[in-house]
Amino acid sequence: MLNEIKIAPSVLSADFTRLGQEVADVSTADMIHYDVMDGHFVPNISFGFDVLRAVKASTDLPVDVHLMVTNPDEMVEKFLDAGADYVSFHYEATAHANRLVQLIHDRGAKASIAINPATPVCLLDPIIDDLDMVLVMTVNPGFGGQCFIESSVRKLRRLRRLCEEHGVRPLVEVDGGIVARTAAEVAGAGANVLVAGSSVFGAPDRAAAIDALRRSAQAASGKRA
Ligand code: DX5
Ligand code: ZN
Repeated sequence: MLNEIKIAPSVLSADFTRLGQEVADVSTADMIHYDVMDGHFVPNISFGFDVLRAVKASTDLPVDVHLMVTNPDEMVEKFLDAGADYVSFHYEATAHANRLVQLIHDRGAKASIAINPATPVCLLDPIIDDLDMVLVMTVNPGFGGQCFIESSVRKLRRLRRLCEEHGVRPLVEVDGGIVARTAAEVAGAGANVLVAGSSVFGAPDRAAAIDALRRSAQAASGKRA
């Protein structure tokens, strides 16, 4: 079956002095990826609720909020109030993943759990049935422009097996170091939402960059067994 690929440009790599135009410039994508960093869960600080409102006002695409914060339980409602369509919180940052997923669903948004490169997919076994999306970090979170961690491909295959065992098909998002080559590798292993920061916003023609990633991933996805 054709695994439809979604491309999610990460505004972390946009020019913040003209954020509205930058978001409008990636309108051929499928969602906007919005990275929230608190300087504690990760060694970087990005943007919060008010900037999310500005991003929402600049696009009709769904916005996928990636919470790289130590206290997602305290933060999540504020991001839902600001218009998050998808919320990805980190498994490593909460003792109450199930409660958070319920809260996100009660507010009518899509719930996703993100896992760091050192976190195994088997930990998602008790909760995978309730997730709309799983975010597999393919770099250590905190910065744009890092190199893809190759062992992520094996991890994606394990996630695919886990989903098959449970008979569920959450979206599978990857984040970090996605360029045409790695887009094909991850799509071949089952990823279908590709976050891309520097490879989209660093390109002179963003629509062409989005299209190139989508084609590369779609071709590999079509070939997989
Ligand atoms: C990293 C962020 C990513 C980042 C990806 O911690 O979660 O979303 O923007 O940037 P690239 O695509 O440049 O690796
Ligand atoms: Zn991210």
